[in-house]
Amino acid sequence: MHTKLVLLLSMVAITVQRATAAGNPIGGAVFSEESCHKTGVLVFYRIKLVTSWSKKLFPKHYPEFRPPPQWSMTFGQTHNDSFHLFQLKHPASVPVATFAETGQAAALEESLAGQQDVLFDEFRLPKIRKGKGESEATFFVDGTHSSVSFITKIIPSPDWFIGVDSFNLCSRGRWLEKVTIPIHPLDAGTSSGLTFTSPKWPTNPRGLVERITARYPLHFASSFFYPEIKHLPPIAHVTFTKIKEYHNHNNVHKKVKKLKYKQRTKLLRKLNQRQPQLGAVDSSSGNDILSDKDCRVSAWSAWSPCSKTCGLGKRNRTRNVLQSHRLGGVECPALIETEWCGSARQCAEVDGYFRW
Ligand SMILES: *[C@@H]1O[C@H](CO)[C@@H](O)[C@H](O)[C@H]1NC(C)=O
Ligand SMILES: *[C@@H]1O[C@H](CO)[C@@H](O)[C@H](O)[C@H]1NC(C)=O
Repeated sequence: MHTKLVLLLSMVAITVQRATAAGNPIGGAVFSEESCHKTGVLVFYRIKLVTSWSKKLFPKHYPEFRPPPQWSMTFGQTHNDSFHLFQLKHPASVPVATFAETGQAAALEESLAGQQDVLFDEFRLPKIRKGKGESEATFFVDGTHSSVSFITKIIPSPDWFIGVDSFNLCSRGRWLEKVTIPIHPLDAGTSSGLTFTSPKWPTNPRGLVERITARYPLHFASSFFYPEIKHLPPIAHVTFTKIKEYHNHNNVHKKVKKLKYKQRTKLLRKLNQRQPQLGAVDSSSGNDILSDKDCRVSAWSAWSPCSKTCGLGKRNRTRNVLQSHRLGGVECPALIETEWCGSARQCAEVDGYFRW
């Protein structure tokens, strides 16, 4: 009896150990103090949104036509903790409210263009043209911008949306491998409509972003008001899956921010060619894997003297290759720059210059 118990306990211990090893990307060694916030770390994630707005789950006011239930394009952003796309119990920003009302992201994009310090990557998931469906995209986070936020408009609706505000993909010093979050409808607080298809009357003063529940708004006419149930089932789920971690890539890192989706795909292909099993590479090895393949150049020389002492001439300045690029690395920039110099006014003999 006693022996059996000891045996059982040791089996439990082994199981726990296995689980720890499996959770580690290196698959053997254990990094207990690994931190997400190292410089030069770049992590690539997939976001998948699965919606489940069906007549079966949400029978009340289920819109049958004009327009049928669907979801707008999803607009998302990765950022640091100083940024919020929206916050529960806070008023929605005008661009977010506009998105919640119209599904248009132009105003949002414009307002974000001025906040580049706190933002890192932007992503969009295609529209889902049915109540039940799915859509996905990819994005980057880095050591100083580890949170992700997104919004999707519920169509039709006055100003209802779904989304996540500031979900941190770094948990206890580790990048999350895979996480699924249940999603509930939200009200942007800008329109007084209670039903999916009600006309939009502006709410004055503007309300707060609130989670819509089976009891909120507390009105029998509300499309999500189900007094007979305690909790609404989630109307969607979002899953974030880590695809890859890239380490010691300071230069690529700065570039990623400016790249559009297609270019990013190219960059990723390049990264993968260089390091086929990057996801499993020991990040503590400290190899500056990318930058030693990139071209590096000297500072510009001083400008050469102007080619003409009288009239408009040219001058140039040069720089040298310090390290030429290797396969897959960033190629060298222009090594010579030319500009106009001088002017007619510098001429002692103006007449002489203008004799054709
Ligand atoms: C977010 O980034 C900005 C700009 O780099 C910085 O000023 C701010 O302190 C950062 N916030 C946090 C919480 O790290
Ligand atoms: C740069 O400018 C200098 C002075 O004008 C000239 O001698 C030289 O040929 C120029 N180099 C090139 C590559 O144009």
